Amino acid sequence: MAKTKTYFFCQECGYQSSSWLGRCPECGRFGTFVEEVVKAESGKRSVESGKLQSTPKRIDEVTYDERRRLATGIGELDRVLGGGIVAGSLLLLGGEPGIGKSTLLLQMALSLSVEPVLYVSAEESEEQIKMRADRLENGKREGESGLYVVSETVTGRIFEHIEALKPRLVIVDSIQTVTSEALEGAAGSVGQIRQCTSEFQHYAKSTGVPVMLIGHITKDGTLAGPKVMEHIVDAVLQFEGDRSYGYRMLRAGKNRFGSTTEIGLFDMTSGGLREVAVPTQFFLSSRSEMVTGATVAATLEGSRPLFVEVQSLVSSAVYGTPQRVANGFDLRRLSMLLAVLEKRCGFKLAAKDVFLNIAGGLRVTDPAIDLAVACAVLSSNVDIPLSPHIALAAELGLGGEVRPVTRVEQRIAEADRLGFDTIVISRYNEREVDASRYGIRIRPVAMIDEAMRLLFS
Ligand code: TYD
Ligand code: MG
Repeated sequence: MAKTKTYFFCQECGYQSSSWLGRCPECGRFGTFVEEVVKAESGKRSVESGKLQSTPKRIDEVTYDERRRLATGIGELDRVLGGGIVAGSLLLLGGEPGIGKSTLLLQMALSLSVEPVLYVSAEESEEQIKMRADRLENGKREGESGLYVVSETVTGRIFEHIEALKPRLVIVDSIQTVTSEALEGAAGSVGQIRQCTSEFQHYAKSTGVPVMLIGHITKDGTLAGPKVMEHIVDAVLQFEGDRSYGYRMLRAGKNRFGSTTEIGLFDMTSGGLREVAVPTQFFLSSRSEMVTGATVAATLEGSRPLFVEVQSLVSSAVYGTPQRVANGFDLRRLSMLLAVLEKRCGFKLAAKDVFLNIAGGLRVTDPAIDLAVACAVLSSNVDIPLSPHIALAAELGLGGEVRPVTRVEQRIAEADRLGFDTIVISRYNEREVDASRYGIRIRPVAMIDEAMRLLFS
């Protein structure tokens, strides 16, 4: 008979304890422990000597069949995955509700070249999925589809369907709404998520069939509840963007089969997600007039240059504490840049509200955007517009020094190609650039106050 045992799990970080605790020793949160019953399978078997299944091998004796990758039919998704889905892999697609996770994977399922594909939805009915597919551009196609959909929430029954259909790929929407009978406790609890994820991992590893899980993300950007899931899966993809815009960005937070630097860009249209394969100019507003507080940053996301417009508004604080608001940029980084401006450029920003926005709802992590952020703030503060034909590419240091960035030539070449007339870079990047190859004027600066004098006087 299976023994049952109860454990207490922190619902935030998954910390396991045999007794209830008021405060989690792992993540420090209060009142997060919930009791969950674990049906213990027969106890752990001890390893008898001489019966080992595995033996250590020399690394050059280890062979593998050139792991076959399955192209998803969506170029931007393949790019983030590192060239398609690896056989037997378990992938997690995370994102805020309504961002387009179900749409992306349904669209992918419809464009896959293998069949059958099983789309398990624990959130929507089969009719709802069909209605969504009909709205998608690639949903209306001739002939029979290799995509099967089923609305099911219990993993045991999902595996029965899998057994019967023998799919080549399984999609589960979402991991927070499926439950395993091996465990008591509501769907979405840490124990359930951990259990269900391991069941799908076991299935993927033992059969070689890739499984894609959808997971919801809380407001602060963590996968709701379980950090535990991130350790089990092979790759975590994050789907993000501002829901009031159409742009969506796909990043890999973890990827065992590729790099995590590449991003995928999409545009959400009435016919589903459309790929943005040449994104360079996508996030530049087509402004011709001189506007104060707007600058252009020459950033790189993965291997692709991405030119984005930074917009800032600096105004006198109406209320006691000045506001600092940043969209698409790290707020702490903004505070740091403001402190640098205050110290090195003599601006009294302490009594000012500062709003910062990256056009298009994009989140930029490339530090080369620093100079554009600082100059946007300065431009709004002094009320002097910067020409839209100037691009900026440099990081800022705490001492106000304008620091070099990676692959500056690639940024310069792209700015030149896009018709910018000037690019401001760090003096320390200057020597690696052969300026004679470009028509664009290259202005190297060493300190932020030097950049300020160059641009605003
Ligand atoms: P959805 O994939 O349901 O999001 P998630 O699974 O991440 O919760 O996408 C929801 C939004 O996408 C919804 O608000 C409507 C929008 N959408 C489109 O704009 N065009 C479309 O073709 C589809 C299917 C959805
Ligand atoms: Mg959904």
